[in-house]
Amino acid sequence: MIQASAPGKIILFGEHAVVYGRPAIAAPVSTVQATATVTQAALGGGLLLELPDIGERVPVSGASTQTPLAMVAMLALQALGCEPTPDWTLTVRSTIPVASGLGSGAAAATAIVRALAAAAGTTLSPAQVSALVYESEKLFHGTPSGVDNTVIAYGLPVWFVRGDPPQPFIIAQPFTVVIGDTGIPSPTSITVGDVRRAWQAESARFEGLFDAVGEVVHAARRSIESGDVTPLGALMDQNHSLLQEMGVSSPELDRLCRVARQAGALGAKLSGGGRGGNMIALAQPDAAEQVVAALLRAGAARAFSTLIGS
Ligand code: PMV
Repeated sequence: MIQASAPGKIILFGEHAVVYGRPAIAAPVSTVQATATVTQAALGGGLLLELPDIGERVPVSGASTQTPLAMVAMLALQALGCEPTPDWTLTVRSTIPVASGLGSGAAAATAIVRALAAAAGTTLSPAQVSALVYESEKLFHGTPSGVDNTVIAYGLPVWFVRGDPPQPFIIAQPFTVVIGDTGIPSPTSITVGDVRRAWQAESARFEGLFDAVGEVVHAARRSIESGDVTPLGALMDQNHSLLQEMGVSSPELDRLCRVARQAGALGAKLSGGGRGGNMIALAQPDAAEQVVAALLRAGAARAFSTLIGS
């Protein structure tokens, strides 16, 4: 039996604008994980993908593009030179909530690629894993920027600009972020498509919003690299306002951000595609638990704190 796993991720700053060439900052969240297990199966069956969390079993060789995880498994086998298809069962489990901005699809795909490589007796570089996972992200998202596969495959905080190699990024002082889930699934492809249509209709306004996000992301980088993370709170608030103007927030996200600030967070914003999914808040380490408790009292489906950059 061979097993590999991959963490979730959060976008700290820059979602949506990153699709249009502005930078984003994202970090892995190892509190939640996707795990892929490869076991030997009966002779002649080929590769079978099992997803017990959602009760699905998919034969990989006949997979269509409707099943991105099967597609990534097939691409990985091709890249690994596994011909003919080995008789394996590939089981994927995950503690990462689906369609909530924590990178569940990219993490499952990363775990799959790593597990298949290990089963084939090899390891792939983070760049190779990231490139394969990006192919499945295209099926999930339509026009992904590539930030999810990059941060998850590298397992490091990244400064990400679409089309550029990920840049090393120093977190001088680890900081605490609280993650709160609205419990509302919101497929990223929908908000990304809506922003695209709005940008086509009002390109000057949206280019201005994306530029403003870019400035926030640059300021956040300076703050994180200097070790003085206090300004990050106000920068999160600014980034959230700009996402509201893009039309990707929701009453639930706005409410959880407000609750987090009232409970002592230094700032808060939605994270990921928006409309539902998660919000994040910057908290002093000793205030994190009271922010988590306030979010749960306010109806968050899930809330937990995580240390970024440790
Ligand atoms: O919803 P998530 O966490 O997968 O993030 C989507 C981030 C976007 O910037 C909205 C889209 C993208 O491809 O970068």
